[in-house]
Order: sequence, then C-alpha cells, then structure tokens
Amino acid sequence: MTQIGSASRPLRVAVVGSGPAAFYGVEHLFKQSELVVEADMFDRLPTPFGLVRYGVAPDHLKIKTVTRAYDAIAAHPRFRFFGNVDFGVHLTLADLQRHYHQVLFATGAQSDRRMGIPGEDLEGSHPATEFVAWYNGHPDYRDHPFDLSVERAAVVGVGNVAIDVARILVRTPEELAKTDVADYALEALRHSRIKEVFLLGRRGPAQAAFTNPEVKEIGEMADADVIVRPDEVQLDPLSRAQVDAAQDRTLLKKVEILQGYALRKPEGRSRRLHVRFLVSPVELIGDARGRVTRMRLVRNTLVASETGVLNAAATGEHEDLDVGLVFRSVGYRGVALPDVPFHERWGVILNEKGRVLDPATGRVVPGLYASGWIKRGPSGVIGTNKPDSVETVSAMVEDLAQGAHFTPAEPDPDAAAALVQARQPLFVTYADWRKLDALEIANGQASGRPRLKFTSVDDMLAALGRTVAAP
Ligand SMILES: Cc1cc2nc3c(=O)[nH]c(=O)nc-3n(C[C@H](O)[C@H](O)[C@H](O)COP(=O)(O)OP(=O)(O)OC[C@H]3O[C@@H](n4cnc5c(N)ncnc54)[C@H](O)[C@@H]3O)c2cc1C
Ligand SMILES: NC(=O)c1ccc[n+]([C@@H]2O[C@H](COP(=O)([O-])OP(=O)(O)OC[C@H]3O[C@@H](n4cnc5c(N)ncnc54)[C@H](OP(=O)(O)O)[C@@H]3O)[C@@H](O)[C@H]2O)c1
Repeated sequence: MTQIGSASRPLRVAVVGSGPAAFYGVEHLFKQSELVVEADMFDRLPTPFGLVRYGVAPDHLKIKTVTRAYDAIAAHPRFRFFGNVDFGVHLTLADLQRHYHQVLFATGAQSDRRMGIPGEDLEGSHPATEFVAWYNGHPDYRDHPFDLSVERAAVVGVGNVAIDVARILVRTPEELAKTDVADYALEALRHSRIKEVFLLGRRGPAQAAFTNPEVKEIGEMADADVIVRPDEVQLDPLSRAQVDAAQDRTLLKKVEILQGYALRKPEGRSRRLHVRFLVSPVELIGDARGRVTRMRLVRNTLVASETGVLNAAATGEHEDLDVGLVFRSVGYRGVALPDVPFHERWGVILNEKGRVLDPATGRVVPGLYASGWIKRGPSGVIGTNKPDSVETVSAMVEDLAQGAHFTPAEPDPDAAAALVQARQPLFVTYADWRKLDALEIANGQASGRPRLKFTSVDDMLAALGRTVAAP
C-alpha cells in the first residue's frame, strides 16, 4: 500500500475550529514538503476566524488584518472550509474517524471563569465574554440584554479583555462609529448613560495582566478621564524588590504610565474610567427586584507564596461601590466536546505537546490533537498560537511516521463532503464567506463604517441566497 501523505493517498486532516490556532495548524501542515495533505476545516459558525472576529475589540481594526494571512492559507487547493457545521451537533468523532487520518481540535475557550462570590448571578452581573460577543455581533449573543441605562459599571479583572470592555463602555458614539462594532451595539451604546467605569485589580500595578499599549490607549480617549489613586500605584516593598530584580523595562514602563495617570487632574470629561488596585469583590448586593446595585470590596495586601509569586490576601477592610452593571473579566474557559477527553478542572483538552491524553490513564489517544486555547488555556495573543500549532503539527507528523493515526474507512474528500451535505445542507464554504466579507465591507462603506457585520446566521444565509429552514 502506498504511503499516507503521498499524491495518491493524501494525509487527510479534519480541523475543528477556524480561529488562529486552526489556521496556523493548517499552514504548518501545508508546509510539510514531503507530505500531500488535505485539510477540511469545520466551524460551528458560518464565519471563520474565531476570536479575531468575535473577540478582538472593534476599535482595534488593524489587528484584524491578520485574517489576510488566513485567506492566503485558505487559498491552498487542498483546503476546504465547512462553516455552520457544529462538531457534536452535525458531526461526531466517529464521523471524523471514518473520513480522516487525524483530527485537530482548535475550538478555543467558549465559556468563562466565575468569581465564586455571593450575588454573582444577580441581574446586571454578566461575564465579560458575553458582552464582548454582543458588541462584536456574535449571532448567539445579539439578543442578549445589557442595561446601559445605569450610570456606574464595574469590570472585575485587569487583563486586556477587561480593558477592552472598559474602553468600549467609555468611548463616544463618534469614536465607536469608526469601528466595526455591531450596528445594534452602536445604537445601544449611543444611548448609554454610563458615566463611571471601575476597573478592579485584585493585586497591584506591577502584577496587572494588561499590556502597555492598552494602558496607554485609555489615556488617549476622546471624552474620558482616567483616574488612578496615587496610594494604589505606589509599589509595596515586595513588588518593588521584584520589579528591581527583574529589570524588566516593559514592566517598569507599565508602572510608570499608571503612576503618571495618578498625577493627572481630571479634565471634567463626560466619562471617567477609574483603575483600581488591591481590591477584590467579595459580594454583589441587589435590590428587591434582584438587580445588582452595589459591590462589596475587600482591600488586599500582597503576600509572597513559596515560589515567590505575589498573591492577594484580604485585609478585612471593606468598601462598598455603587454599581448597576458588573462584568467579570477573570478569564475565559474551554468547554468539553462530545467523546473528546477533557480535563474539567483546567478547562482544556488534556494533552502533551498537542497529543490528546486520556485524563483517566494519562495515555496518548492516537489520531487526536489540540492547539490554541483549548490546548493550553485561555491566554496569549494571536501570534502565540503560531508556535503552539507548529508544536502540535510536529507531533502529528512524527506520529504519522510511526503509524499512529486513524484508519478511515472512507478517506475520500467527496464522501466527507457528502456527509456534511447530508447533515448540514446549509454549510458555508470559504468562497461563500468571501462573499459575506465583501458584502459587509460594502454595506459598511454605504453607511460610513469600516464594516457592517451580519449578526444573524439567517441573514448570512439569506445574503448568500440559501434557503433558511422554516422555524
Ligand atoms: C476579548 C478578546 C480580545 C482579544 N484581543 C486580542 C488582540 O487585540 N490581539 C491579539 O493578538 N490577541 C487578542 N486576543 C487573543 C486571541 O484572540 C486568541 O489568542 C486567539 O483567538 C485564540 O485562538 P484559538 O484558535 O485557540 O481560539 P478561537 O479564536 O476562540 O477560535 C475557536 C473557534 O472554534 C470554533 N468552535 C468552537 N466549538 C466548536 C464546535 N463544537 N464545532 C465547530 N467549531 C467550534 C469557534 O466558533 C471559533 O471559531 C483576544 C482575546 C479575547 C478573548
Ligand atoms: N489587545 C490585546 O492584545 C489583547 C486583548 C484582549 C485579550 N488579549 C489576550 O487574551 C488573553 C486573555 O485575556 P484576559 O483578560 O481574559 O485574561 P488574563 O490576561 O489572564 O487576565 C485575567 C485577569 O483577571 C484577574 N482575575 C482572575 N481571577 C480573579 C478573581 N477571582 N478575582 C479578581 N480578579 C481575578 C487576573 O488577576 P490575577 O493576575 O491576580 O490572577 C487578571 O487581572 C490574554 O493573554 C490577553 O493578553 C490580548
């Protein structure tokens, strides 16, 4: 029998997910000069790119141009995209094993971490993941209600997602109109009455997860003052010692920018973004209707763990903050896929260098791989997924050489396409996506916007002239 990966017997790979990790994985597979690879990519949404489309902030348009590189990967003659195809709904693992030698899961982190405090589920308290998906026009979240009639909001966490959320809340409608924020979100934010936003860090400025360009950016908004308390950005002795020892210029700069904000006098702008440190929410308090009205905070101090990490420790000193809207931005979380081994506590597909492991036995499950956020957890920028996927694909290539792969009964592209057609006749190809993309840009230009996103699957299918099943 001819070798798998030859012209007459290509290596057939199914990729589940179409975010950065999926595209970088396919790119590296196609770079294997000694292998002929056929890659089919599946996404539950009709649109590719994962969080590049539904996560990256609408006012960070430049970052989204990374998708041009993905278009180039998708132009490979042996690449196919099947959008609107949900693994676990339309296709099972057994289906993929029937048609492919290897399966790469790159499904990202579809859920959120919780704070674990009383009142977390009061009305008006939301995971940032949902607000992000809403303002970015994710079809699952377009009808999600956010009450922007209140004047004060808190965002828990000081990572880049928290800062994205805070920025979108305090930008002016004019600033937002220049972005690709969803049209309904632009309209809702135009009428927003939010005046004060509190970003809440449980540790100090030297431990804040947000990065310097993002911290600088909040000081450059059209109509928002940034307010930082001088006492909260003075480094405690433990942080001072760590910062001095590390000699990390980027970190020094971050602390310096924050200390600079503390020296600024508010200019009476219409919105105020407070960046707080060394405080943790311990309870959300609601009114008689179950709506959040207040957040109880405890002041923290930093203590060194055995490994030298500085952790927050509650002092017992409390403070109440009146807020009508709370976003917890304390991290995303992966979700389990049917029949795919999953590590519940870590929220990832347990793996070693991308090779999926059975959590019960710790053994490699041949033929199954993971990359991106579902592999390593919800951290890292778009570029971080490239070496991550390269590592996984290297394992795939090594295993192929060792004969560790599925033996598909029907390793035939037409048979796989026929199965998709049977299970989800409304699947979307990459050519279809390119049409949607062009339409979104044209519709945006017509209304002076960079892009007007389709925000419902039915609208996308209708724009493609595809029949939408009756409800
Ligand atoms: C709010 C936010 C803003 C960010 N902004 C930036 C930024 O400005 N710059 C930067 O460099 N990085 C940014 N990042 C980080 C970056 O987006 C991630 O590193 C990257 O998207 C992770 O890639 P991924 O492919 O692992 O997952 P994702 O991008 O999440 O892609 C996963 C894909 O899998 C699909 N999927 C899930 N389940 C299924 C299923 N059952 N069947 C089929 N398909 C499925 C999803 O629909 C999605 O398309 C941001 C992240 C967030 C959360
Ligand atoms: N512009 C960009 O480049 C961009 C934009 C968005 C996202 N991203 C990337 O996407 C990844 C995910 O971002 P993220 O913001 O979701 O995660 P993150 O960077 O891990 O930040 C999470 C934040 O939540 C805090 N936190 C966690 N648990 C908490 C709790 N129980 N109570 C209070 N605070 C808590 C963390 O504080 P501790 O540090 O104390 O744990 C941290 O400040 C990051 O790598 C990020 O850089 C990049």
